[in-house]
Amino acid sequence: MLKLEALRVKIAGLEVLRGVCFEVPDQAVVALVGRNGAGKTTTLRAIMGLVAPEAGRILLDGQDLAAIAPHRRAHCGVGYAPENRQLVPEFTAEDNVLLPCLAMGLGRQETRRRLELVYAVVPELAALRKRRAAGLSGGQGKIVALARALAAGTRLVLLDEPFEGLAPALAASYAAALHRLRRATPAVAMLVTESSPALLASVADLVLYVERGAIGREPAASKRS
Ligand SMILES: Nc1ncnc2c1ncn2[C@@H]1O[C@H](COP(=O)(O)OP(=O)(O)O)[C@@H](O)[C@H]1O
Ligand SMILES: [Mg+2]
Repeated sequence: MLKLEALRVKIAGLEVLRGVCFEVPDQAVVALVGRNGAGKTTTLRAIMGLVAPEAGRILLDGQDLAAIAPHRRAHCGVGYAPENRQLVPEFTAEDNVLLPCLAMGLGRQETRRRLELVYAVVPELAALRKRRAAGLSGGQGKIVALARALAAGTRLVLLDEPFEGLAPALAASYAAALHRLRRATPAVAMLVTESSPALLASVADLVLYVERGAIGREPAASKRS
């Protein structure tokens, strides 16, 4: 469903992605694992059109995303939860979740349908619903960013280091939400980054390793099991 072909991205003159190639199969959950600075965030930002590739292609169901402006990518059914959340601080948690629906000009019925799914998958949102994003903890913000990604991502959901900095209890509810999402909408593919494969082991169908801007082989240390 998603295919990256020899993707090259330069930031400030440095080659940050050096020919990234991989595929997210239909309905699959793919974990993209790599240490800090490996290129995980840049890969997701390139898919969202937030950095322009020097070369290579990103295909969504065969369609070259280069032809689609960044602000139109949510219309393709791609939802994104960035590493640093990027919520609108003065909006409530629920309004942040509704933002992509508003931006896409969805009708009231479709918006309500999506919101119902989001609450079913991320019930933690209910308690935060009316709180301003500015007053949320980092972990609560991650839950809201997940909910917002689900409101937009009817085909593909991109999650950037969702477990980073989450307290154990919140990490467990986040993982439970991912499992509920799999059950509720098995057709939605996911690409999730992490610095360690352990956190995604129970949900990922496929684990890819990114190292210095390229997809590498499984590191020796994680072959033990
Ligand atoms: N805005 C930026 N300016 C300069 N260098 C950057 C910027 N964003 C990313 N980089 C560099 O690109 C590389 C990959 O970064 P990133 O994709 O954020 O890695 P990861 O998400 O795996 O930690 C790193 O070496 C980082 O220093
Ligand atoms: Mg990152």
